[in-house]
Amino acid sequence: MSERLADKVVLVTGAAGGIGSAVVRRFAAAGARVVATDLDAEGLDRLAAEVLGVRSHAADITDADGVAMLFAAMDDAFGRIDILVNNAGIGGPRTQRLHEVALEDFDRVMAANLRAPLAMTQAALSRMVAQGGGAIVNLASPAGFHAVPRVGAYSISKAAMIMLTKQTAKEYAADGIRCNAVAPGVTRTPILDDLPDAHLSQIVAMIPQGRIAEPCEIAAMVAYLASDDASYVNGSIVMVDGAAGS
Ligand SMILES: NC(=O)c1ccc[n+]([C@@H]2O[C@H](COP(=O)([O-])OP(=O)(O)OC[C@H]3O[C@@H](n4cnc5c(N)ncnc54)[C@H](O)[C@@H]3O)[C@@H](O)[C@H]2O)c1
Repeated sequence: MSERLADKVVLVTGAAGGIGSAVVRRFAAAGARVVATDLDAEGLDRLAAEVLGVRSHAADITDADGVAMLFAAMDDAFGRIDILVNNAGIGGPRTQRLHEVALEDFDRVMAANLRAPLAMTQAALSRMVAQGGGAIVNLASPAGFHAVPRVGAYSISKAAMIMLTKQTAKEYAADGIRCNAVAPGVTRTPILDDLPDAHLSQIVAMIPQGRIAEPCEIAAMVAYLASDDASYVNGSIVMVDGAAGS
């Protein structure tokens, strides 16, 4: 895969997490200028120490001030944004049936998994329209296509992320902006930390490739979709799931 990402200005959310840090490493290795952001300031510090040249800004992207601060930093440092990766997300309740989910928990999941990426997308789009192009890659999930019992808030948020992707792609294609999403199968990251082992074993048993994904395998698809190699890929939701959803 010959990605053309050198010198692209990239903003990655959730960059201290499993997939986000793999995405940062992938873009940095391709010569991009990467800004990494996350709630987790210590995790960002560790990442910035490991991946030379990466700038990091801790922020809560569910907060309008956090989003404004991030884009002000992008404006100051580069005066542009070529690529936004909306990767930050939370799992939310995992044991409750839909009628048991507290609406406060539902709001928390929607704020992190939908409202925040929408706010980030809005801020990126206004700059990308002015500069004449850009690419956005969202992290969706197979759960956005197929309901997962007891993970209702998350599934609903990821279904909305899929439509955010399509809506953005269709509305901004004529502005030279592409928007796609990756739907990773179960991937080895901290988001799985509170998943019971028995549940994980059941999941693996249903994956034709017989294992969960590694974060670098998801990052590879994010980088491809963000790159000019994917110049006619727009509004697509790409499953990277070891054939689990086939
Ligand atoms: N790991 C999987 O199996 C899997 C599968 C499908 C989709 N995904 C999606 O991939 C993305 C990354 O997941 P991951 O597994 O790397 O998770 P992770 O928990 O390792 O990383 C998520 C990161 O997002 C950050 N974050 C959460 N809310 C934030 C906020 N309000 N502001 C700033 N940062 C915030 C967290 O601090 C964390 O570092 C998520 O959107 C997730 O839903 C993951």
